[in-house]
Amino acid sequence: MRALIEELCGVFGPSGQEERIREAIINHLDGLVDEIQTDRLGNLIAVKRPAAGVEKGKRIMLAAHMDEIGIMVTHVDAQGFCRFTTIGGVVTNALIGSRVHFANGVEGAFGLEGSPIARERPAPQKLFLDVGADSRENARVQVGDSAVFRSSFGAVGDRLFAPNLDDRIGCAVLIQTLRELKSSPHELLAVFTAQEEVGARGATTAGYGLEPEIILAIDVTATGDFPQATPMEVALGKGPAIKVMDRRMISHPKVRGWLESTAREQDIPYQLEVLEFGSTDASAVQVSRAGVPAGTVSIPCRYVHTPSQVADYNDACGAVRLLVNALGGEYPQ
Ligand code: CO
Ligand code: ZN
Repeated sequence: MRALIEELCGVFGPSGQEERIREAIINHLDGLVDEIQTDRLGNLIAVKRPAAGVEKGKRIMLAAHMDEIGIMVTHVDAQGFCRFTTIGGVVTNALIGSRVHFANGVEGAFGLEGSPIARERPAPQKLFLDVGADSRENARVQVGDSAVFRSSFGAVGDRLFAPNLDDRIGCAVLIQTLRELKSSPHELLAVFTAQEEVGARGATTAGYGLEPEIILAIDVTATGDFPQATPMEVALGKGPAIKVMDRRMISHPKVRGWLESTAREQDIPYQLEVLEFGSTDASAVQVSRAGVPAGTVSIPCRYVHTPSQVADYNDACGAVRLLVNALGGEYPQ
């Protein structure tokens, strides 16, 4: 799975432009599922049905988002400098010193009006993007083009570094779960969602259309394990986190209990997550139609929504073990 995480982190895919990452994921689903389709919003839906003769369990949607945060050009001036807006919750004080790249390969470096150094948190309107042009005419980007962070994938032992572990590591966990899951009594709807970072839009329509009986999201979560972090129980390397609550969702007690009891029975280290900001695809599906019991398996990740995110490979492996064991068995009565 490590190679898979690295591969997926290397694929361009800001919200609304998921074509390339969708193709990359499709290539890994061959032979793992019964049916693959792309819906109208660009969600990739892979269906795995229970074996014939097995008493059917639940209809379970598993969501990992394909899209990543980025920036979109709003204006190109006469000298070729671009102004931009953010796609998703980009931490704007992390922009100076980082680079982005566009779908056509054009690179961009961030500059700040008046000074190369920000003494305080810069207002996003004071930032501009240098795309190597000297006029509006020769800038190879235009209004509406989007770009994502460009920094290479790295690893130190089991610690992984990439600009988009959110949520390519979750996509890899979901693919690996499908690889390792020998059989399941449940009908599994593995959805690699579009446009999560701009408000779980893909999950909203997929959840409505698929009518699952249970929704599980697989996404990253913040941690409280670095100097003077806001106190939070989640730390890298201590196992996948089972979400109790985030900003828009309270996990269904039965779904949470199912995940916790599976982890305990299988001796999988896990952590309980209470996240005071942010949410996942599960929150959108939870309130779909008449409501869907929801839970989330989270991979702890430091510096989420910055160009340098850090996670621990063992937590991703633990997430796979937890999902394989939970989905391979019965849902509690
Ligand atoms: Co995110
Ligand atoms: Zn995410």
